[in-house]
Amino acid sequence: YEGAEHYLPRERAVTSLRQAAAGCRGCDLFTDATQTVFGEGADRARLVLVGEMPGDREDREGRPFVGPSGNLLDRALGEAGIDRDTVYVTNAVKHFRFTREGNRRRRLHKKPTRSQITACKPWLLAELDAVRPDVVGLLGATAAQALFDADFRVSAHRGEVLKLPGLDDPPLAVATVHPSAVLRARDSDRERAYAEFVADLRVVAAAL
Ligand code: URA
Ligand code: SF4
Repeated sequence: YEGAEHYLPRERAVTSLRQAAAGCRGCDLFTDATQTVFGEGADRARLVLVGEMPGDREDREGRPFVGPSGNLLDRALGEAGIDRDTVYVTNAVKHFRFTREGNRRRRLHKKPTRSQITACKPWLLAELDAVRPDVVGLLGATAAQALFDADFRVSAHRGEVLKLPGLDDPPLAVATVHPSAVLRARDSDRERAYAEFVADLRVVAAAL
């Protein structure tokens, strides 16, 4: 596998990219996943949100952030005053990676490897180039490390307004945690984790 670069179409509008990505074999992840889950949303969205990779629900439905993380994200966006219909939502990696443990019907999310993230990055860069947002919200370490570098620490830089490297006419970038981190927090921590997530999204809203 040589990465996604070879599968990029000549025509770079989002609909053309999505069509081409459906046939991507740039890394090994297409073999076990149901389908490519490409980004979607407003064509000229001023805000692009980048997650890690599709989860179980997203893999079945073929759309990003339609499962539990997406529900939490929708609620948090609303509280931060961001209209989800004006946002383009995507992931650093476009195929679901999972293991089946014990009960083989359940598919457990597995973190993508660095080489899978690198393989898939041309799709993400092409999406950013097509949508040309003013601000990119990075949801979790995978997204932040894909677009900054492998040393990027969300805990050190969350809620800061940064400039995204590696693009012409670079958009602003704000990193925060992944919504699944809020879902996974212990009961006693969850309310605070959610409030901090919403606070970071308010920084995003103010940067728009
Ligand atoms: N988690 C992600 O990172 N992306 C999705 O689309 C769903 C869950
Ligand atoms: Fe292609 Fe990305 Fe899927 Fe790998 S994860 S096959 S690079 S779309």
